[in-house]
Amino acid sequence: MAKAYDLSGATYGSYADGDTSDLFRFSGTHGYADHHVWACVMAKLSEIRLSRATRLSVLDAGCGPGTWLKRLVVTAKEMGFIEISARGFDVSAEQIQRARVNCRDLSSLPGIRLEFSVGDLTEALPEADESIDLTLCLYSVLSHIAPADLPLVARELGRVTRGCLITTVRPVGSMPSALVASIDEVRRLLHDQQRNWCEVELADGCLTAFSFHLFSTDEMSSLFEGMFDIEVIEGLDFFHGRFAADPRWNPKGHDLPHALARELAKLEKSFAANREYSDHANHLLLIGRKLAHASRSDQRQRQPKLTLHSVSR
Ligand SMILES: C[S@@+](CC[C@H](N)C(=O)[O-])C[C@H]1O[C@@H](n2cnc3c(N)ncnc32)[C@H](O)[C@@H]1O
Repeated sequence: MAKAYDLSGATYGSYADGDTSDLFRFSGTHGYADHHVWACVMAKLSEIRLSRATRLSVLDAGCGPGTWLKRLVVTAKEMGFIEISARGFDVSAEQIQRARVNCRDLSSLPGIRLEFSVGDLTEALPEADESIDLTLCLYSVLSHIAPADLPLVARELGRVTRGCLITTVRPVGSMPSALVASIDEVRRLLHDQQRNWCEVELADGCLTAFSFHLFSTDEMSSLFEGMFDIEVIEGLDFFHGRFAADPRWNPKGHDLPHALARELAKLEKSFAANREYSDHANHLLLIGRKLAHASRSDQRQRQPKLTLHSVSR
């Protein structure tokens, strides 16, 4: 995984985030979904702030080039949080290096502790139990985890979170994606869903391969049930992908007419509300609120292991 995103370098950021000179323009290919995800992040930040909290702790698991954490920290500061502690980690050292550069202006601001580190989501996280107000794991980070490891990863995300988790993955019926780069920069794409394996040959001849699992809505919700109260599980972008700027069928300058955009937004809303359709969206969004008893019961499960261990020694 690390190699794939190391190799992708700046290509991933420009594909995923578009022009970031305005952080909140959401000009990437997935602009519609980005807008919606951002509205959800904002709603959670407001909720925390309205509870009169002035401290905020955030974790971005698989943060890529750090754009989401940058948006979040800038906004949290504007909302009046006076102590913000944020950590982004990613298995790709190249993406972490980009995140550090992208966010270098923020780290020195008073009250902000922003850190990026190389780390693997399949290993134990360094965060203490229930230390994080808002955990992000956005855009297919979980799709790169081997299905056998997903329950442990979900439990670990649940362990460190005391507030909410916002995550998105690719559902089983989504459009083809090369993940590391825009699909129009791809010469050949092979995604074997049985083996959760994706091979990509980029237009410049570069070859890369990585694990890539597509989720059903049921699979995604059962992964986090018991740990989180699932407030939202919905499909994002049933239609907008068709109209996204893509030189293969929508040449530059052919922006979506406003009236059509309005109608599409209405359609997206009605489809998103229907769980039967969410497997066919381009993204699947899950928002979970940590259940009060979840960590305690998890601890109970872990304790016997410790006892057995000390007895056997
Ligand atoms: C499609 S990108 C999403 C990046 C970022 N979350 C965003 O929304 O732009 C997926 C990211 O997951 C990271 N990743 C994959 N497997 C990981 C793992 N086991 N631990 C940490 N990061 C991982 C990749 O390196 C890549 O940066």
